[in-house]
Amino acid sequence: MPVRLHINIDHVATVRNARGTRYPDPLFAAHVCEAAGANGITAHLREDRRHIKDDDVDRLRASITSHFNLECAATAEMRAIAERVVPDTVTLVPERRQERTTEGGLDVAAQRHDIELFVAMAKRAGIRVSLFIGADEAAVELAHSLGADQIELHTGEYCHACEPGKLGERAHELERLAQAAELARTLGLEVAAGHGLTRHNVGSVVAIGPIVEVNIGHSVIADAVFMGLEQAVRELRTAIDRHAR
Ligand code: PXP
Repeated sequence: MPVRLHINIDHVATVRNARGTRYPDPLFAAHVCEAAGANGITAHLREDRRHIKDDDVDRLRASITSHFNLECAATAEMRAIAERVVPDTVTLVPERRQERTTEGGLDVAAQRHDIELFVAMAKRAGIRVSLFIGADEAAVELAHSLGADQIELHTGEYCHACEPGKLGERAHELERLAQAAELARTLGLEVAAGHGLTRHNVGSVVAIGPIVEVNIGHSVIADAVFMGLEQAVRELRTAIDRHAR
């Protein structure tokens, strides 16, 4: 099975919202990604609606034909939205208003109660639940015990270690990801990965056997500025297929 490629189209909405126009439309971007071979579309509905908005979520749900992964915080507001929209997967992420992007994984222990409420709703509604966590064995075990179907491993630290002169750190981060992924697989969890991935650094991540899905946003939208979105998705697909085990 090839590693599933889910494209996060948030930053198409970032460009749109910068001017308050109706273009570029994240829904159109989603269709281009699907045509270029993406296996799914990911969108993060943040509390402050800085990029994706409620109407985008409704339109994505109504029209995309691949897998729809809705990322959100484990709040009562987002629980109600997910229950109404019924995405294929909901990925619970930590969220802080001041952050530029999602920094670090969920504190599963601290948010245990909110996650349990989300999982209970999702089971009733037939939605898969993925928890976005760091490469931490305790978090993997807790995710499993709370009934998650999948974990998504935060690859931000690995991506930072891909900068020049950090080879040792890079190997260390890959090892941490591999160990957490293996534990998750042993527990019967599906394993995804994401954050900061690019066509240049994704190879070593998808070479980690248990990882069956990657969620990639910022770099592919950045590549699209120069090569077009369809080509950017295709290049990512090629980079993944070259390394996936
Ligand atoms: N996965 C999760 C859970 C995320 O929160 C994000 C960022 O919204 C991504 C993947 C994509 O990260 P990037 O935009 O850096 O590719």
